[in-house]
Amino acid sequence: MTMKPISPQQEASYQIETTASMEQLSSRERLQEAFVHSPLSEEDRLFNIGMYTRSSVLVKFLVMSDIYQRIQKIPGCLVEFGTWWGQNLVLLENLRAIYEPFNKQRTIIGFDTFDGYTKRSDKDKESEVWDENSYSTGKDYVQYLRELLEIHEGCNVLGHVRGRHKLIDGDVSVTAPAYFQAHPETVVAFAYFDMALYKPTKIALETIKPHLISGSILLMDELTWEESPGEAIAFKEVFSRDEVSIEKCALYPSKAIVTVR
Ligand SMILES: C[S@@+](CC[C@H](N)C(=O)[O-])C[C@H]1O[C@@H](n2cnc3c(N)ncnc32)[C@H](O)[C@@H]1O
Repeated sequence: MTMKPISPQQEASYQIETTASMEQLSSRERLQEAFVHSPLSEEDRLFNIGMYTRSSVLVKFLVMSDIYQRIQKIPGCLVEFGTWWGQNLVLLENLRAIYEPFNKQRTIIGFDTFDGYTKRSDKDKESEVWDENSYSTGKDYVQYLRELLEIHEGCNVLGHVRGRHKLIDGDVSVTAPAYFQAHPETVVAFAYFDMALYKPTKIALETIKPHLISGSILLMDELTWEESPGEAIAFKEVFSRDEVSIEKCALYPSKAIVTVR
């Protein structure tokens, strides 16, 4: 398969959410320089990518790995609401290959507008981070990500079994109800909520609730982040305390792991 080049997105309008100090940011810049000007060939750089993976990125891999082990015995698909470039979808594909290489039924579904954030509601706070259209990847990116996921699938065991990934393009407030109405048989083992906004989070939570089973896990990215109250408000409106247990993610304190009782 030849991947079509897509226009560079590095100018995309988003401000990465960070609490890093100026000194840390400057070290990040140096790391980027070291990556760009690496003496390693591209092939060696990809194979030794951990050399350029900083701890705040590595921790995301560890968290996903922990979550994957928790849902390993739970049937159903893995969903991400708010995929951005799709790193988590790739991670999930590769964790699937590591933890359950022969599970042909573990579908991975990513929802995003690929056009960035939708409008805030009055339950959301103003923020430059999730301003309308910030985090846009551009619509052309969907095809690139689809192919990238296929490439990873092709590198893994059972690579000949295709179609385990689905990318659903559009506003989750519309696409999630439509997807689950069209697929009423769906069981959701894991869903990652990372859209911050009240409306799509509320609609996605309400939509998947009937598809969750005992032991299903939700990873809430901003449950206690005061800059994005919408996610917690939506969550509290959809789930009562006795329906779930909630724990702070040990390695990544801003994330919360919700297990369905
Ligand atoms: C912070 S980014 C997600 C980052 C990603 N989960 C990761 O860990 O790499 C938030 C994403 O939510 C998406 N998003 C925001 N509002 C949305 C909506 N109403 N429907 C679908 N996607 C939405 C944005 O396009 C953006 O890609």
